[in-house]
Amino acid sequence: MKKSIKSISLTLVIMMLAIIVAACNKSGDKVSVGIVLPTKDEERWLQDEQRFKDALKDTKYTTEILFSQGSSAKEKENVETLINKGIKVLIICPPDGDAAAAAVEAAKKEGIKVISYDRLITKTDAVDYYVTFDSVEVGKAQGQYLVDHAKGNGQPLYLYAGAATDNNAFLFFEGAWSVLQPKIKDGTFKIANSAEAVALQGKETLSRDEMSKIVGQVTTSWDPNEAKNKAQTHLTAAGADMKGDVAILGPNDGTARAIADVFATDKAVTSYVISGQDADKASIQYIIEGKQSMTVFKDVRTLVKDAIGMAVDLLDGKTPATTGEYDNKKIKVKAKQTKVIVVDKGNVRKELIDSGYYKADDFTGL
Ligand code: BGC
Repeated sequence: MKKSIKSISLTLVIMMLAIIVAACNKSGDKVSVGIVLPTKDEERWLQDEQRFKDALKDTKYTTEILFSQGSSAKEKENVETLINKGIKVLIICPPDGDAAAAAVEAAKKEGIKVISYDRLITKTDAVDYYVTFDSVEVGKAQGQYLVDHAKGNGQPLYLYAGAATDNNAFLFFEGAWSVLQPKIKDGTFKIANSAEAVALQGKETLSRDEMSKIVGQVTTSWDPNEAKNKAQTHLTAAGADMKGDVAILGPNDGTARAIADVFATDKAVTSYVISGQDADKASIQYIIEGKQSMTVFKDVRTLVKDAIGMAVDLLDGKTPATTGEYDNKKIKVKAKQTKVIVVDKGNVRKELIDSGYYKADDFTGL
């Protein structure tokens, strides 16, 4: 009798332990904030991953970062994985803003709060917040740099844009156009590589459809290879009057380096000024060497801090602070926006090394 009571209680203890272990495992699998980034193939998003990891080191919340590798299908899968892990907040940057609607709608159905990160998810009401840089300002800064470094009159201007699936590409272009167009109109620049842009060059502001026509023609799809091929095609087609000292609207660092390499090898191009953005390490090296003229530094530490701050507010049941709103073609999304900094050879050390963003020994010839 005694023995069987003992064995029964032993069995009970074992069962209870098993339940506790199972429960622990389950909570070990649980994630409170899911982060989905567009691709590992660009330095920009590896930077975001690293900055998220740095910022999340000491948080009590569990997080997981997944990459979509440029595929909206993979992105949907990632979001489903995270939903199954019980996330309460989703921070997401899409490869394709319209196509990501389905993924965030699935999250919303589960009561998950959605924060669009850097790129706006469009044509859906399933986005709660947006953290972003001032993207129109990025484009303005790029255009302004070309204007400030223009040489004489009638200088050839080569326009390039980001991916048509990325809402930001339009914001950047809008900003750039707002400062370049008056200088095209007054004869400082002549457009070298886009008949669509030439057709619209009299218009100070462009509608989304008008911008689409130009972006469709000069898109790089954010792909350095596509950028390189387009630049080669443009230079092959260009006459001597479209060479000499040229200005190039480089949409971001990865594509700017690819385009710059092509222009650098054309003997009829005597000099070029080219913009970029992101402060990729590779582009900082290019700027030091005079192969890229400028970049727009978007301090990812701030964006990450804002996104996590918002997520934590939401987990704590608070309303996150915002500074404005963005129209996503379905609703107005409350947004928190961050400033950007123009960097060229003159201030690269101050803004990127002295600020602790990069280490001096990441570069040569600084
Ligand atoms: C980002 C840029 C980036 C580009 C390509 C944009 O949405 O704002 O920083 O260079 O995508 O990935």
